[in-house]
Amino acid sequence: MNQANEIGDVLLSEEQLQQRVGELGRQITKDYAGKSPLLICVLKGAFVFMADLARAVDLPVEFDFMAVSSYGNATKTSGVVRIVKDLDIDLGGRDVIIVEDIIDSGLTLRYLRKNLASRSPASIEVCALLVRAGRQEADLDLKYVGFEIPPDFVIGYGLDVGERYRNLPYLARFEGTV
Ligand code: IMP
Ligand code: MG
Repeated sequence: MNQANEIGDVLLSEEQLQQRVGELGRQITKDYAGKSPLLICVLKGAFVFMADLARAVDLPVEFDFMAVSSYGNATKTSGVVRIVKDLDIDLGGRDVIIVEDIIDSGLTLRYLRKNLASRSPASIEVCALLVRAGRQEADLDLKYVGFEIPPDFVIGYGLDVGERYRNLPYLARFEGTV
């Protein structure tokens, strides 16, 4: 199947994404006034969101990057999370904001939050661009959420299928087979 056939309906346009990311940035700027939050980007999916969000936050923010893997290219999380790249910056006393692309089952986030909480930060909040409605078993306490989306598998704005389509400036339904 060629590339064009795999890109389905546009769920969120470039304009919709940019507008909402701007709002999230302004909210974070307000909530963290006088502080220097540490934004932790969960690679790879969140890199596009993080780059736009960071430029919408008017605070002396710092950045770090973490990569976790739930194995393989499948469109479903296995539930087994492995740290592929750990942080460089010490979290002790820091106001941490975990920046995620999409929360599906929430297993990745639950693992991450527990792991980061054990490193003595002053606070931990989550900023997720997307939450797939109705898929999470427990309340994940998400402070900042961009959009709730339907069950469809989505691509673009950092999100991939088999490492492709991360560079689409919009979010689309994936129409191919995985
Ligand atoms: P969770 O652990 O089930 O919440 O899975 C979250 C991770 O699965 C995300 O960080 C993505 O990497 C990946 N993922 C879940 N749904 C999608 C999707 O629709 N498109 C691309 N990646 C997805
Ligand atoms: Mg991800």
